[in-house]
Order: sequence, then C-alpha cells, then structure tokens
Amino acid sequence: MKNLKKTDQKIYKAIQGEQKRQEEGLEMIASENYVSKAVLETLGTVFTNKYSEGYPGKRYYGGQEFTDVVESLAIDRAQKLFKAQHINVQPLSGAPANMIAYSAVLKPGDKILGMDLSHGGHLTHGHPVTLSAQIYNFIGYKTEKDGQIDYVALEKMAIKEKPKMILAGFSAYSRNLNYRKFRQIANKINAILMIDIAHIAGLIAGKAISNPVPYFDIVTTTTHKTLRGPRGGMIMCKKKYAQAIDKATFPGFQGGPHMNNIAAKAVAFGEALRPSFKKYAKQIILNAKVLEKELKQYDFKIMFGGTDNHMLLIDVFGSKNVSGKEAEIALDKIGITINKNVIPDDSRSPMDPSGIRIGTPAITTRGMKEREVRQIAVWINIAIENHNNEKVLRKLHKEVKQLCKKFPLYK
Ligand SMILES: Cc1ncc(COP(=O)(O)O)c(C=O)c1O
Repeated sequence: MKNLKKTDQKIYKAIQGEQKRQEEGLEMIASENYVSKAVLETLGTVFTNKYSEGYPGKRYYGGQEFTDVVESLAIDRAQKLFKAQHINVQPLSGAPANMIAYSAVLKPGDKILGMDLSHGGHLTHGHPVTLSAQIYNFIGYKTEKDGQIDYVALEKMAIKEKPKMILAGFSAYSRNLNYRKFRQIANKINAILMIDIAHIAGLIAGKAISNPVPYFDIVTTTTHKTLRGPRGGMIMCKKKYAQAIDKATFPGFQGGPHMNNIAAKAVAFGEALRPSFKKYAKQIILNAKVLEKELKQYDFKIMFGGTDNHMLLIDVFGSKNVSGKEAEIALDKIGITINKNVIPDDSRSPMDPSGIRIGTPAITTRGMKEREVRQIAVWINIAIENHNNEKVLRKLHKEVKQLCKKFPLYK
C-alpha cells in the first residue's frame, strides 16, 4: 500500500491496525471469514471505476467488453456450484438481496411466514425495526423445545394464515432444515417458497450440507460468510421468476452493479469449485461439532440441542450465570471475537441477552482443526468463568496470540 501510505496516513494506519487485529485474534463471529489474497486483489482493481447498469449483452453504457466477461463468469461458476435455473450476482449484499426478492414477487401488505428472530431468523425476515416489516406483513414461526421446527405445526399455521410466501433460512440456528417438508407445505397453500442461505452457502457449495436450490422458488444469499467471497449478495431462482428478479434488482432497487465485487465473487466461486473447498466445508462442521462436544463437557447449554452446521448458539446466562454481553467482553479481552445473541424467547434484552453465537468458518480458513478447537474450548470456559478476573484474562490473551502466530493470515 505504498501510495496510500503516502497520501492518507490516517486510513493507512487504520488498515494496518485492523490487519494486526485480525492476525492476532481468533475470529469466531459465525458470519465472518477471511477471503483469499486473490479475492482481496480483485476487489482493489480498476473494475471499481466502471458503470455497467443492465446485464451482460444488454447494458446502458458502452465499454462493457470486460465487465460482461466477469459477470458471465460469476454466473457460470455459481451455476456449477448451486445448479440454479437463473442467477443474479448483482445484489450488493444480503439485506438488499432479500428486499429485492420480496419486491419481485410480492405486493405491499402481502403476508410472509418467516422464522422468528429469537429462534434464529434474520432481521430482514420481518423484524419490526426493518423496512421489510413496514412493507410486508410478517408472521413468525418458532422452533420446538428439541430445537427442531415442528413441520406439522408449521403446516397448520400456513393453512390458517395463507401467506403469499413461506420463508426459510436463518442467521442463528444450528440445525438442518427439511427442504422437502417446506416444499410440501408451500404446495398445499400455493405459496412462493423462498430460502435465505446467507450463512450456509459455503457449506452447500462444498457439499457438506444438502442443496436446497431444487426445492425453492427463490434462494438468496450473501457471498462473504461460509462461501468466503467478497461482501456481497446473490439471488437464484426458478426460470419462472427470472425476469421479475432481474427487474427488481435493476432498475427496481439498485443502480450500477459493483463490478469489482462481482469480479471478486467470480474468483471466490472459482475457489469454491476446487476439491480443497469440499475439505474446507467438511472441516468447518467438524470443528463446530468438536466445539459443541467440548463446551457441553464444561456444562454450557447449547441451544437447539447441538449443531449440524458452522455455528453454536449458547445460553451462557442459563449455564454460567454470565450474560451474553459479559461473555462477549470477556472473550474480546482474550482475543476471541464472538457476538452476544438472543436465545429463543429470551427474557433478557437484545443489548444484553442470555446467549452468545460462535462460529468456526474463519478459524477453519486459518487451518485450525480439532486439536486447536479443543484448546479454544478450554479458553472460552476459563474466560467466561473468570470474566471479572483481569489477570486470568491477560494470561489467556497471551496464549491466544501464541496460537494465532502458528496460523498466520495472508503469509
Ligand atoms: C440470513 C441472513 N440474511 C441476510 C443477511 C444480511 O446480509 P448483509 O449484512 O450482507 O446485508 C444476514 C447477515 O448476517 C444473514 O445472516
């Protein structure tokens, strides 16, 4: 960054600081990851200069011979990964992708059946603070005591409420979904069936979790979580909805696509097509399962009965009498970054909830396996049980830094 260093010291220093933070700490926020150097390089290219409203072969401005190449490659590679009938790689991120999808097929006031936020659903699946909830009428379904969705109850709810859309997907739920059951229920009431795979897209691409694309009418995702690409979104759909999705993306919701991001998506999809990505996806889940087993041994209450994917939701207040916020602060102090999170029907506030969410995608990218995860579980337990003991936390922080040194980032 020779030029930046010369022209803007403040930003240069902040980037250096962030790089050091990422290198010296264990990133365990379930929605984060480290992209490859190739993806990073692609993001910082001249494609950021280009306007390319429209789609490959049908643009509103000239000079598109290379933008068409990268957008077409991104679509082709995503197609190989997910086998969708139609793909739009222009959504700027996950939240806009969801708004685009709703607006493509619904009218204001239409009803959507989505997963309740405290049971793992995402804000954009109908939380009252979002624009989507002002426009559409969301009804939430929940998980049962055993952590599963009761599909008989969901069907009854769907028949009673008659939503135009049934929405699956989550940001803090750790079990697999029964895609076939969702399809059967949607068919019964003639609803559009959508799933948001933002969290698990990489696990699906790596074939560690089965692919929902054949079952759903519309599939939205982010590209920067388990899929390990640049920050961005993507929408896949059946042919029937292709035109509506494309129109809702541009000009309906967005302007010019961010071509540097789309090029970086293409690079990340290329990486996800390699055999090594299958190993990676498998290891993410293995690491999460080891973490579950170890933390259970230390008497942590794991929500939903455990994990089938890359994350764990843990009731730290119920298990250790330490709030989610206190646990987040303690872990931050030892260099383990996680987030506080509500648990189903949490009696505490979202700013200081009962739970924390922990994920394994980023540490797995660094090459950490079962052995390191067992060590991490030891640290998590000691840090939470000693959350007020600065001396203990300082000692653990040193140990975390030593482990991180053995797994360098961007070497
Ligand atoms: C399931 C789900 N959908 C959508 C989003 C929003 O994605 P973005 O932050 O890229 O807008 C998230 C982000 O965490 C998510 O978990």
